[in-house]
Amino acid sequence: MTEPRTPDHAIDPLFIERHSPRAFTGEAVPEAELMRMIEAARWSPSGYNSQPWRFLYALRGDAHWQTFFDLLVPGNQKWVADTGAILFLVSNARMRVGDELKPSYSHSFDTGAASLAFQLQAVRQGWHAHGMTGFDHARAPEVLRLPEHHRIEAAFAVGRKMATADLTEEQRPREAPNGRRPITDFVIAGAFPADAG
Ligand SMILES: Cc1cc2nc3c(=O)[nH]c(=O)nc-3n(C[C@H](O)[C@H](O)[C@H](O)COP(=O)(O)O)c2cc1C
Repeated sequence: MTEPRTPDHAIDPLFIERHSPRAFTGEAVPEAELMRMIEAARWSPSGYNSQPWRFLYALRGDAHWQTFFDLLVPGNQKWVADTGAILFLVSNARMRVGDELKPSYSHSFDTGAASLAFQLQAVRQGWHAHGMTGFDHARAPEVLRLPEHHRIEAAFAVGRKMATADLTEEQRPREAPNGRRPITDFVIAGAFPADAG
């Protein structure tokens, strides 16, 4: 691991500022703010411009909030309780080609790209988005009325991050910035070496 949150090459600070907090203030996310984040995702690239992403959302206190909240695992519910929006990001594994519906090679990849645009735009607007696969995978498709050929990629919680000065002693270590493997660990000039495992 390199020094937490220090890039090895010069990049836009936004990439480092985006992170996944677990300490939020409880502030509600206005719908218009959330739509701006989703607008950024809307402009993401996708195979054949198929735009396979679907954003299901609940705002703190609205009719959907409790349903979405109840799908999360208890470990995530603990901190999501103080966020302002919960989303399920879904992809459509079929794309329309002419009159036909065909399997999409890249529906998850495309939706991942949209998810990052969403997260980066959230930071630009002064919020943070935190991804979760910790939800009830067995129950979620039915509760969300997931159509055939769709996949729930991840849940997201969005909220106003707690200021470092306001963190409790319990929260402080959990909110410590994390790092990344060095670039040389995963970048290869040419093909994989013969002994790569
Ligand atoms: C698809 C996905 C699923 C994740 N699931 C969870 C989760 O269920 N609970 C959680 O607290 N964090 C979850 N995370 C957050 C990751 O742990 C976090 O992104 C990773 O440690 C890198 O830290 P950073 O986002 O702060 O840079 C998830 C992230 C992604 C992208």
